[in-house]
Amino acid sequence: MKILLLGAGGQLGKDIQARCGHHGLDIEAVGHGRCDIASKEQLRAVFGEVSCHGVINAAAYTKVDQAERDVDAATRVNQDGAGFVAELCCEKGLPLLHVSTDYVFDGTGAEPYAHDALVGPRSVYGKTKAEGEKKVLGAHPGAAVVRTSWLFGEHGPNFLKTMVRLAFEREEIRVVSDQVGCPTWSGHLADALLSMMKQRLTSEVVAQGVYHYCGAPQSSWYEFADAIIGEVKRLGVGCKVRAVHPITTEEYPTPAERPRYSVMDCSRIEREFGIRQGDWHEGVDVVVAHQLRELKALKQP
Ligand SMILES: NC(=O)c1ccc[n+]([C@@H]2O[C@H](COP(=O)([O-])OP(=O)(O)OC[C@H]3O[C@@H](n4cnc5c(N)ncnc54)[C@H](OP(=O)(O)O)[C@@H]3O)[C@@H](O)[C@H]2O)c1
Repeated sequence: MKILLLGAGGQLGKDIQARCGHHGLDIEAVGHGRCDIASKEQLRAVFGEVSCHGVINAAAYTKVDQAERDVDAATRVNQDGAGFVAELCCEKGLPLLHVSTDYVFDGTGAEPYAHDALVGPRSVYGKTKAEGEKKVLGAHPGAAVVRTSWLFGEHGPNFLKTMVRLAFEREEIRVVSDQVGCPTWSGHLADALLSMMKQRLTSEVVAQGVYHYCGAPQSSWYEFADAIIGEVKRLGVGCKVRAVHPITTEEYPTPAERPRYSVMDCSRIEREFGIRQGDWHEGVDVVVAHQLRELKALKQP
């Protein structure tokens, strides 16, 4: 069985490609160069060329701060493009898994957000992704939206890679400690999506509506940074950092507002697909080691 993957060149897209074989799925990996999802003509051409059984859309405009002044570009991709993909999947009768984000929430909650909790995005990126979700679900009854959060993997850029770089540049690092969420290894998410798709294609189980999938346990950015630096130190490669200090969001202003709390309740995906949250520490070990090899600080095993 073959999956059409959109956004194949991204952080998540590359991990999906690397792992599809483990799930017994073939993949047609389509990157931005071959298809702009905001162009219905280009999408139509790809859907015409590729014969597949299901579609995963990992393509998105993901520059969260840049989106604040690049509203049109974010809207074209995250909102309009997402909707076009769903329309074409519906036309062709193909199940669709569309990836979305915890930034659709306003962050004022204090308990994990259920899959059907009210959204209230505070950033342009979050708003365009929330509108995209509506378009996807409105266009195609065979579509599922999978929200994730704080993604990191070997094929960044991402927060983990920034911390590893800083580990060799600074003696002290300051990281926001009053934003709490769930780091997610893109390897775990890729497996979750492929498992969902495989089950959807080979059993009676239906993927429909909104699902949450993120790593566990919950963490602040500060705790996440501390774990990353701890792993760099453990590998004994001459880390320069002596201390990681917690700071407040006010001390680290960014153009886009981030949710203060965006932990998501992932019980639906476990109940319906038997997919359990992965421990993000596992991903930290793998990705830090990979990043250190890239930086030639760690010898090849
Ligand atoms: N990264 C996170 O922390 C995070 C957190 C929560 C949810 N998510 C969601 O997870 C999904 C995957 O994110 P990611 O981290 O893998 O992002 P990524 O590395 O930025 O990958 C996104 C991919 O989409 C491509 N793309 C952008 N505009 C496109 C267009 N118009 N047509 C076709 N492709 C286009 C990009 O290509 P170019 O590079 O050439 O533009 C890139 O290859 C996205 O839906 C994102 O919203 C991410």
